[in-house]
Amino acid sequence: MTTWRIRDFHPSDLDGILHLWGAMTASGIEPVYSLSEVLASCQADYAAVALHGDDVIGAAVARAAHEQGWIVFLATLPEWRSRGIGTALLSALEHRMAPLGLTKLSALMPDTETRVDAFLNRGFKDVKNLRFFERQIPVQRAELGPLAQLGGRVLPRDLWENVAGMRREKQLLERRLVLPLAEAELADEFGVVPPRAVVLFGPPGTGKTTFAKAIASRLEWPFVEVFPSRLAGDSEGLAGALRRTFTEIAELEHAVVFLDEVEEIASHRAGDPPSPMQGVTNELLKIIPAFREQSGRLLVCATNFIRALDSAFLRHGRFDYVVPIGLPDAEARSAMWQRFIPEAVLGNVDVDQLVARTEGFSPADIEFAARSASQRALEKAVYAPDGGASAAADGGATAAADGWASAAADGGEVPAVSDLAGGRPTGTGANGRRGPSTEDYLEAIAETKTTVSEEVAAAFLEDIEQLARV
Ligand SMILES: Nc1ncnc2c1ncn2[C@@H]1O[C@H](COP(=O)(O)OP(=O)(O)OP(=O)(O)O)[C@@H](O)[C@H]1O
Ligand SMILES: [Mg+2]
Repeated sequence: MTTWRIRDFHPSDLDGILHLWGAMTASGIEPVYSLSEVLASCQADYAAVALHGDDVIGAAVARAAHEQGWIVFLATLPEWRSRGIGTALLSALEHRMAPLGLTKLSALMPDTETRVDAFLNRGFKDVKNLRFFERQIPVQRAELGPLAQLGGRVLPRDLWENVAGMRREKQLLERRLVLPLAEAELADEFGVVPPRAVVLFGPPGTGKTTFAKAIASRLEWPFVEVFPSRLAGDSEGLAGALRRTFTEIAELEHAVVFLDEVEEIASHRAGDPPSPMQGVTNELLKIIPAFREQSGRLLVCATNFIRALDSAFLRHGRFDYVVPIGLPDAEARSAMWQRFIPEAVLGNVDVDQLVARTEGFSPADIEFAARSASQRALEKAVYAPDGGASAAADGGATAAADGWASAAADGGEVPAVSDLAGGRPTGTGANGRRGPSTEDYLEAIAETKTTVSEEVAAAFLEDIEQLARV
């Protein structure tokens, strides 16, 4: 006599499903679909349960995706196995889903799954040679609201690789920050306390913002930038708005939180009467310890003026590391030039010479010089193809701007690109390639004013001596 029966799922069966889930995982089967998905499908899709009296002893759950149905859960309590319950559950589900007109019913089961017979009995084929790929989406649905509210986003995955050169800084950040955060369990085994907050300091344009974003990209955590200047007009005042912002950030599972130009809100507290910023600095000093208590997040503060920061701000216990990001050395500059020079002409440009001529340049300066060289080469090619080619050939300094000036002085019109006779000029340089030449780059370098003066560079070295902590 059958002592069990099958019926459709009722909401009151949820406890029974949880019990089944527990029994399944306890017997070493790791289900493919998560519990939350199974429960969601019980309520929104199709589910059948097997009952003994009022007790749930088995369940099958499925959902439809276009023309294909997927069994997302099939379980029977161990003591009730081998009695045809699985087969009956699958049959009930198929019956319930028949009106959908599905072409296929599929199931993805762990290879430790033991109820193979239930599937075979219902005419399922055991498909061999399949592989299962899975990727965790970094931001979960519940976080989308708070993340949008904060203006946060998930950055492209390749930012870390795109940081050219800066080997020392990269290695340091990789080891001290990324490793313990990305491999939290391993770090825990070794007793490493994961970092929660760091300061990046250095002259303008050296890559602090770039590194902060690259760290987020590397960890695959959303990047949230906090802009004190935007919060300043808030009705709660800057301190209140900062507090609220960090409360919202606490709702995120993971985040790299970036606070740029932090000296503006955390400078030395001094003066009588106290400056209105002191309240903000005090607030920030309170926010950081609370922030540190939560895992899965990292605060990155950046500053050009580390000396201006309040001493309490940099104290041990608030920031794990205070990392200098300085001007690129020759190796880093070489990597940057190779990144910025178009691939097609790279082989013909004397990169070593550019590297030698750009000592003291920041990445931002190099990027600027590279862009101006490209622009001037393009203009030469289009507006003064002959002059451009010969200038490149004889190493002359006929900048595009000169061509422009002389065209205007002649009373001649500067031709629009579409008016150029004989179609588009080739812009072929001495090297037989289109694109900027070494000379174009050298000219652009000569005209680029470096951002970091010698005094600033010297002060930075002193700051490293006195304040860096890595
Ligand atoms: N290692 C690098 N490789 C390639 N480009 C870089 C690198 N570092 C910085 N850059 C480029 O240089 C420019 C300036 O970098 P970034 O904004 O990160 O500097 P910063 O230190 O934050 O400057 P600031 O102090 O002015 O805020 C950016 O356009 C960035 O793309
Ligand atoms: Mg910056």
